[in-house]
Amino acid sequence: MSARPSLVVAIDGPAASGKSSTARWVAERLHFRHVDSGALYRALTHVGLRSLGPPGGWREEELLAHARRVTLHPVPGGFDPHVDGHPVGEAIRGPEVTRHVSQVAQMPGVRAWVNAQVRAAAAAHDVVVDGRDIGTVVFPDAALKVFLVADPWERARRRLVQRLERRPTDDEIAEETERLVHRDASDATQTVQARDAILLDTTYLTQAEQVDRIVALARALVRGADPGAGVGGGGG
Ligand code: DC
Repeated sequence: MSARPSLVVAIDGPAASGKSSTARWVAERLHFRHVDSGALYRALTHVGLRSLGPPGGWREEELLAHARRVTLHPVPGGFDPHVDGHPVGEAIRGPEVTRHVSQVAQMPGVRAWVNAQVRAAAAAHDVVVDGRDIGTVVFPDAALKVFLVADPWERARRRLVQRLERRPTDDEIAEETERLVHRDASDATQTVQARDAILLDTTYLTQAEQVDRIVALARALVRGADPGAGVGGGGG
């Protein structure tokens, strides 16, 4: 059996476009591993909030000095961010980290550090990686690049349904839409659709439909490259 380079499926898109959950599901179907690059920016921001002074004044060198405390640990299906050797879990999804992570993600040294972690995770496995610049900067040669978009109102609605576990009111959706549009603006520089990415507008798709499409695209691509090959057989 000859060794071949890892296959990379890159899934990029703005906040709350469903990238991470879609990527996790696609990875499972293809028998690839999922890497959530945003989780590394979040984990480092979490470390900053615990160990450095007020977020407005963080210097890049200070943050990078703490970066070695953040690692990606292999788990079934993908990788989990750990801090000081322990899983960070939902602590990185809270409002404080979300408020300050954009600022951390602007720092070029931090971006280089995240990209190195993500590439290392992909070195030995086929991966589905989600983020903002995966298809442009991290894996410009990815086998498949998908750029997920959805109407901001719909993204806000989905996020609230997940968070509140009930149907949100229009006023709640409007407020969340406002917040999302601001986050989109803060992350705009690094959120780039690669020229060879396939744009997938999920506004009117269910998550299962998005996943089916990406899995079908990945399988078609592998068949095209090597008619005898296949990825993630079975399971529709
Ligand atoms: O996708 P997310 O909300 O978990 O991302 C957290 C932050 O990290 C957000 O500000 C965008 C940024 N990010 C980035 O700049 N590049 C990536 N590849 C992934 C995330």
